Amino acid sequence: MNIEILETETKVKIPENLVFGKVYTDHMFEVDYDASQGGWYNPTIKRLEDLQLSPAAMVFHYGQAIFEGLKAYKQDSGKVALFRPEKNVERLNRSAKRMCIPEIDHELLLKAIIELVRIDQDWIPTKPGHSLYIRPVVFATEPLLGVRSSEYFKLIVMLSPVGPYYPEGFKPVPILCTDKYVRAVRKGIGEAKTAGNYAASLMAQAEAKKEGFSQVLWLDGIEQKYIEEVGAMNIFIRFKKEVATPMLTGSILPGITRMSVIQILKDWGYNIQERMIDIYEVMAAHKSGKLVEMFGSGTAAVIASVSKLKYNSTTVAFDENKPGELALALYEELTAIQYGRKEDKHNWMTYLD
Ligand code: PLP
Ligand code: COI
Repeated sequence: MNIEILETETKVKIPENLVFGKVYTDHMFEVDYDASQGGWYNPTIKRLEDLQLSPAAMVFHYGQAIFEGLKAYKQDSGKVALFRPEKNVERLNRSAKRMCIPEIDHELLLKAIIELVRIDQDWIPTKPGHSLYIRPVVFATEPLLGVRSSEYFKLIVMLSPVGPYYPEGFKPVPILCTDKYVRAVRKGIGEAKTAGNYAASLMAQAEAKKEGFSQVLWLDGIEQKYIEEVGAMNIFIRFKKEVATPMLTGSILPGITRMSVIQILKDWGYNIQERMIDIYEVMAAHKSGKLVEMFGSGTAAVIASVSKLKYNSTTVAFDENKPGELALALYEELTAIQYGRKEDKHNWMTYLD
């Protein structure tokens, strides 16, 4: 299927201080789905514009919406490269399956993302730690108040120049582990990147913010005992003899940064384990001096060191001003690969040709 390109003129205006996700580039990719039109049809790149949807569009009522987040970088050589975009397309299609949304042709979406980035590449900020955030989103457009899967969908890809996700920059972030709410349960939709999971997390996130924490560390939804992930990141715990991250049980987002961090740690010879991690194990390890550091991983955040973790009345405190040693090394390794300063030995980068 050919992508129709309607317009390519850019007027780049990147503000000095970028707030994550507030500024958008000139163009968007759009494709619609209707089985009676043969599935996905009319793939188009055009100027970014508001949408017209029926108030009865099913996404507003029953939440059939999935999305992705990936980044393109302007490397020191001037080349533009995307980090593992094929993994995001694969995950979008897994989310689609879970949410009864028709899958999209892998090659078509990958091509659309690359073409869109090519057209708006002058929007990629070049300051340290900056990049172009790519946001594909798919949602139900059929106007119907009955509950069933929508028969029409729209997929959009939009772009946003971004700086560091946390206002703190690379300064370690405080996180609050809560058992007051649940984000997701096994066999639910936790492993899908779907809008509802984020809606489910907002109240806890707002309460954590009020207490001075920047993110929530979620526990499993059944026993409320095993750590799962942070609001917008997967989590890693470095014990003295092991680096551990929660295994993928179905309620955790299988992060692409997580997957990459695991690979780097294996390359570096670390004992990296994907397993169930009991919150009490983390607390006990802290007490006995076996807990070295904690950090989160995600596209938006890259690597974020944890400055403190509070659970009930116990607080585990790390150095507030200095990221953990391994977190810093991983941040430097990942960003060196992304910005083309280091050999990309696993072929993670996709270049605009
Ligand atoms: N967990 C959640 C809930 C997320 O929103 C994200 C961000 O995408 C991640 C984990 C990290 O995933 P990735 O590394 O693919 O960005
Ligand atoms: C990402 O890291 O891409 C995310 O999706 C996190 C958040 C902006 C939802």
